[in-house]
Amino acid sequence: MSEFYQLGVCYYPEHWPQSQWADDAADMAARGISKVRIGEFAWSRIEPARGNFQWDRLDGAIETLSAAGLKIILGTPTATPPKWLMDEYDDILAVDKDGRPRRFGSRRHYCFSSKSYVRESGRITRAVAERYGKHPALYAWQTDNEYGCHDTSRSWSPMAQAAFRLWLREKYKTVDALNTAWGGVFWSMEFQNFDQIDLPNLTVTEPNPSHVLDFYRFSSDQVIKFNRVQCDIIRARSDAPISHNFMGYYGEFDHFKLSQDLDIATWDSYPLGFLDIGPTGDFERSHYMRQGHPDFAGFHHDLYRGCKSRWWVMEQQPGPVNWADHNPAPIDGMVKTWSLEAFAHGAEGVSWFRYRQAPFAQEQFHAGLKRVDNAASQGGIEAAQTAAILETLPEAETQNAKTALVFSYEALWMSEIQPQGKARNFWRRMTDWYGAARKAGLDVDIISETKDFAGYDIVMIADLPIISPDFIDRLKQSKAQFIFGPGCGGKTKDFHIPPNLVPGNLQDVLALKVIKTETLRAGVATPGGGHIWQDYVETDLPAQFDGALFSDANIHYFTTVPGEALLQKAFAKICKTAGVETTVLPDGVRVRRRGDLTFVFNYNPHAVTLPDSLIGAMRFRSGQPELAPGETAVLTAQD
Ligand code: GAL
Repeated sequence: MSEFYQLGVCYYPEHWPQSQWADDAADMAARGISKVRIGEFAWSRIEPARGNFQWDRLDGAIETLSAAGLKIILGTPTATPPKWLMDEYDDILAVDKDGRPRRFGSRRHYCFSSKSYVRESGRITRAVAERYGKHPALYAWQTDNEYGCHDTSRSWSPMAQAAFRLWLREKYKTVDALNTAWGGVFWSMEFQNFDQIDLPNLTVTEPNPSHVLDFYRFSSDQVIKFNRVQCDIIRARSDAPISHNFMGYYGEFDHFKLSQDLDIATWDSYPLGFLDIGPTGDFERSHYMRQGHPDFAGFHHDLYRGCKSRWWVMEQQPGPVNWADHNPAPIDGMVKTWSLEAFAHGAEGVSWFRYRQAPFAQEQFHAGLKRVDNAASQGGIEAAQTAAILETLPEAETQNAKTALVFSYEALWMSEIQPQGKARNFWRRMTDWYGAARKAGLDVDIISETKDFAGYDIVMIADLPIISPDFIDRLKQSKAQFIFGPGCGGKTKDFHIPPNLVPGNLQDVLALKVIKTETLRAGVATPGGGHIWQDYVETDLPAQFDGALFSDANIHYFTTVPGEALLQKAFAKICKTAGVETTVLPDGVRVRRRGDLTFVFNYNPHAVTLPDSLIGAMRFRSGQPELAPGETAVLTAQD
């Protein structure tokens, strides 16, 4: 198996008798797998009592796996502090928003602001890094596991409160500055000193939005700090790259910022679980029930590629999961298609979660590549098929796209803190705009709001309340077409309405002012084909699409949240202006290019005939024009 497209699997040697490890390792290698992630929940076995390190089993597992030619991705076990450690401290558990301390008995039962836990997680990280940092079988590290999973990045504990006060003191220096920034005079919420400031929960009605936004910023910084402690400890003892596994539809900390401390960003892709619990419409939920939404995985691949050019899928769904409200099984071929799709978007590797289904504890219904009786599951069969296809592909480098979507974690927080309408859904807006470009056959980069716009023909900014002067400077230096959603530029950094009204600083380049905004129930249409939100504007610019869009040279502003048809029409028009060529893809089909390769994915539950306009002069390396449900075709320039 080539090292260019790498395959991996998540394995828990501590769940299986030692006598089984060698067979498991040989089977993984036979399926084309070359990397195994282990260790991320194994603290109770590594250190069953304080200071009593039992390395034998982990040593043995690493030896057995590496004897089969596998390399190790080693997790620091800090997502699961063991019982003995929890019993030693009364300041590790996080507190939920309702003020209830969390309990031992599952995982992630710690508060990022617990000084005791920061110290303990550093201690175990140091021990593991000292033992394995220079091990020849070590390929990479993973810090902890899924920061924030199970609603854990924001903690409402006394430790968080104390750390928040310090953070505020550092940011504002004087309490008067804080009172002004927060507009504390409103409802007599002014403070006389920093020690009076509580966390923004358990208030009678909604807390002050600027207070909440600062608490969210602080909580994000705490996660980043926690991770940095582990990274520094590891780097002092090991040259292996450091990764962390992010999640889907999750943004409670700034992943762009945290990724600056990583070498590889990874994420955990569960397309069916997220179709069921994510921002999905009724038609999509049934049509894509066993395939997942065609833009879910692609969107996250591009988001995390935007966080770090080296990236992986660390956990790929291999069959039904156990944690959504309903847990269908993927149609045959889909596990392979999801896996190939990650490579199409530029992944270095894809690793399935998990090797064998566990017959005990919380995830008994979660599929693995192997069933409990040790036969291969459908996912296991498709793992080998994925490897066989990758084997035939040339080493294609990933290139940047010409279309960008701006993603801002602060914008997400602000949309949740003061949504001004229940139907506003940040993730949906992001994936709809992303999807508009993908349906037109374009590749998309997802970038932070601080990134340079050089190299882009089109930049989409669906939701960005704070538009800084620096953003405007970068925009002015670019020739791209910029497409803004309603409400963009509508807030200052302190979460106030700008004195010159919405769109704030954007009025430098866009001769339009929003004088009134209304939000509407889902299902109520706005003129031109929008919904949810309507800005009323004062402008001399000509109205397009019944006033749904205004353009000032290369700056375009939607006054409403565009529905699918409006978005598609307006996007096509702007692409034409930009000289960007688009294709109309069949519904449920997506295309992604990597070097000379063009991958085509059929997310439909039925076969699709690919149009000649798409295939053009390319030849099929795998698949065919009649693309079966859930199948992938790989095409390349005729040679
Ligand atoms: C992930 C987690 C894994 C496992 C998996 C099940 O969120 O990292 O440990 O629980 O979900 O789908």
